[in-house]
Amino acid sequence: MPDFTKSESIGSETANPGVLEVRNLTKSFKVPAGKDGNTQLRALDGINLDLARGETLGLVGESGCGKSTLARTLMMLERPDEGTITWDGIDPYTLKGKDMLALRRRVQMVFQDPYASLNARMTAGEIISEPWRTHKGLYQSKRDRIARVRELLQLVGLRPSDEHRSPQEFSGGQRQRLGIARALALRPSVLICDEPVSALDLSVQAQVLNLLNELQQELGISYIFISHDLSVVRHVADRVAVMYLGRMVETGPTETVFDSPLHPYTEALMSAAPTLDPSSRRTRIILEGEVPSPLNPPSGCRFRTRCVHATDECAQSLPPVATGVAFGESTHIAECFHPRTAVSLGMPAHV
Ligand SMILES: Nc1ncnc2c1ncn2[C@@H]1O[C@H](COP(=O)(O)OP(=O)(O)O)[C@@H](O)[C@H]1O
Ligand code: SF4
Ligand SMILES: [Mg+2]
Repeated sequence: MPDFTKSESIGSETANPGVLEVRNLTKSFKVPAGKDGNTQLRALDGINLDLARGETLGLVGESGCGKSTLARTLMMLERPDEGTITWDGIDPYTLKGKDMLALRRRVQMVFQDPYASLNARMTAGEIISEPWRTHKGLYQSKRDRIARVRELLQLVGLRPSDEHRSPQEFSGGQRQRLGIARALALRPSVLICDEPVSALDLSVQAQVLNLLNELQQELGISYIFISHDLSVVRHVADRVAVMYLGRMVETGPTETVFDSPLHPYTEALMSAAPTLDPSSRRTRIILEGEVPSPLNPPSGCRFRTRCVHATDECAQSLPPVATGVAFGESTHIAECFHPRTAVSLGMPAHV
């Protein structure tokens, strides 16, 4: 019997004390009027999300679904229209001046393109130490700063003497190591990695992923790891969050979401993911139709225009939160009227 009394939202389910809590986050951009005259492009639509200390959360979904906007909003580079972000229990928008700066220091980003994200006119040492110009007081003397630059270079597998080289003298993998060293310079507790290995060759990808893993073991950092490559996400993530057209449609432990997805969209995504185990190979589900425009998203379930399981009720209201019961798993949830495996249904994530 479904438990309709339970009110929960996707993302509110981690056991470990959270470093990040996001509730009902909405972000629109004003754009030139589309075909139907709309000018508000809704990039994030009621997002709920949690991140536990030291965990890696993989964020997946097709291009344009809002992954980078979510990253930028969490970095406080975009201000949300609605909803709350709480970093370690603190709402950043209640902070001013020094306090805001101190919070910003703790969340850093690693970008996709190591070529574009590093200033070619600076040396590696200048690139790593640049954040200390804004965040003063972390290292008092020049001697301390030089020593720390060398330490960071070593930490990411480069040589201390590389401090004098410029980015052009490094390979793609080395540049991404440099980008990671720069992100670590402020001793963050969270790294948001937006497609961090997508621009690299396969063999180099593995090296950079291993480095990120080692750094997490050593420094206890949490990662939000954005990638369109599901095999990479399966390899690195403890939990997975799936986005579609600005909404978070499913979250849960990585293996559970890959092996027993609840949401038809996740099921289609995962059916296309490569698997090493031939016995678990499944029929590939080809999604028909285009992703609708975020300028004019469908009513009710945003996925309904491409969903083969859609019924009339899917167009009428936002779907309820379905909780996965496979393997006694209570931390696996999706928003859907007709989930793919056994569930209990709760209230809609937001109404
Ligand atoms: N600054 C902006 N102005 C207008 N539209 C934007 C802006 N940034 C992102 N968008 C739009 O928001 C949606 C989500 O984009 P994005 O977050 O980059 O998706 P993803 O990273 O998943 O590919 C897209 O439709 C994109 O065109
Ligand atoms: S709510 Fe309906 S349309 Fe949406 S994914 Fe579930 S079955 Fe499909
Ligand atoms: Mg992106």
